[in-house]
Amino acid sequence: MEKKVLITGVAGFLGSQLAKDLLEAGCVVVGVDNLSSGKITNLKGLSEDRFIFKEMDACSRKLLTDADLHNLAEIYHLASAASPKYYQASPFETINVNTVGTKNMLELAKRRQAKIVYTSTSEAYGDPEMHPQPESYRGNVNTWGPRACYDEAKRLGEVLCYLYYTQYQTKVKVARIFNTYSAGLANDDGRVISNFVTQALKDEDITVYGDGTQTRSFCYVTDTLNGLKLLMEKDEANGEIINIGNPIEYPIIELANLVKTLANSESNITFHPLPEDDPKVRRPVIDKAKELLGWEPVITLDSGLAETIEEYRKKLL
Ligand SMILES: NC(=O)c1ccc[n+]([C@@H]2O[C@H](COP(=O)([O-])OP(=O)(O)OC[C@H]3O[C@@H](n4cnc5c(N)ncnc54)[C@H](O)[C@@H]3O)[C@@H](O)[C@H]2O)c1
Repeated sequence: MEKKVLITGVAGFLGSQLAKDLLEAGCVVVGVDNLSSGKITNLKGLSEDRFIFKEMDACSRKLLTDADLHNLAEIYHLASAASPKYYQASPFETINVNTVGTKNMLELAKRRQAKIVYTSTSEAYGDPEMHPQPESYRGNVNTWGPRACYDEAKRLGEVLCYLYYTQYQTKVKVARIFNTYSAGLANDDGRVISNFVTQALKDEDITVYGDGTQTRSFCYVTDTLNGLKLLMEKDEANGEIINIGNPIEYPIIELANLVKTLANSESNITFHPLPEDDPKVRRPVIDKAKELLGWEPVITLDSGLAETIEEYRKKLL
């Protein structure tokens, strides 16, 4: 029988690409999304006979008894706004989906004896005082600021995973994902690579926040999704938190210049006030992913960006 997999947040950047991969691998995919930041057009072209889409909230208790979710083998719980633009516009919904929604998905995993991957975030480290960040670092997160609804909701989501693992032996794994990109990011999504590439291709100002010395590490989407799929596969990863990200770190100003060069752009680079609580550095230690999953990223920023720019160019023309 074909393996049945549930993806919440299926109409988003990572969910839609993951659905495509799993359908190509022969799975039956049930996708749940409330279309709050995702787009139905992201699901165009997915094999209709093995893909079931439900426009629903991941917090809905109806999912626990849904007939399409019997014989469920795996759950990827991705539902959550991820871009500050979206999570700051819907802070209570962001808290709900990562707490109530995560508990709902853990309960479903427990009842169906399914494996579950929860997508947490590098934001769980806040503005880190330890650099680079291993999973054992407990973070420097502010409860009293504009990023708290996302960062702290993800941290509580992790706690729920811990409780289901320790109390019910649910086969749960947590991925702390670091910035991931590709042309699959909508150009109005508000994340740094989609902003810079869109601005560069339109020859508009490339807007850098702060002086651009703050760093991030960027992982191409295929690398991140391979990490998530391996995490699901490996029993050794049950009950573990694992960083999934690219360990090469770039100052944001360097990223802006690289995008400008690769896009052959006439844009100027302009500087704007740094948003509150913006992390100054960000780089994963990925030893645990290497050891437990045999995973590390293979796509360089130059080649991933070149691909992203060419795809965006086609979309913007
Ligand atoms: N892409 C990254 O760089 C990154 C980094 C760290 C963590 N993550 C995490 O990975 C997951 C996917 O991220 P993404 O980049 O694809 O984000 P995205 O915003 O593109 O997709 C998220 C999807 O979840 C859906 N959604 C939101 N609330 C929902 C709810 N209550 N019920 C059902 N659907 C809901 C949205 O409509 C959207 O389609 C998120 O949980 C995010 O926090 C992503």
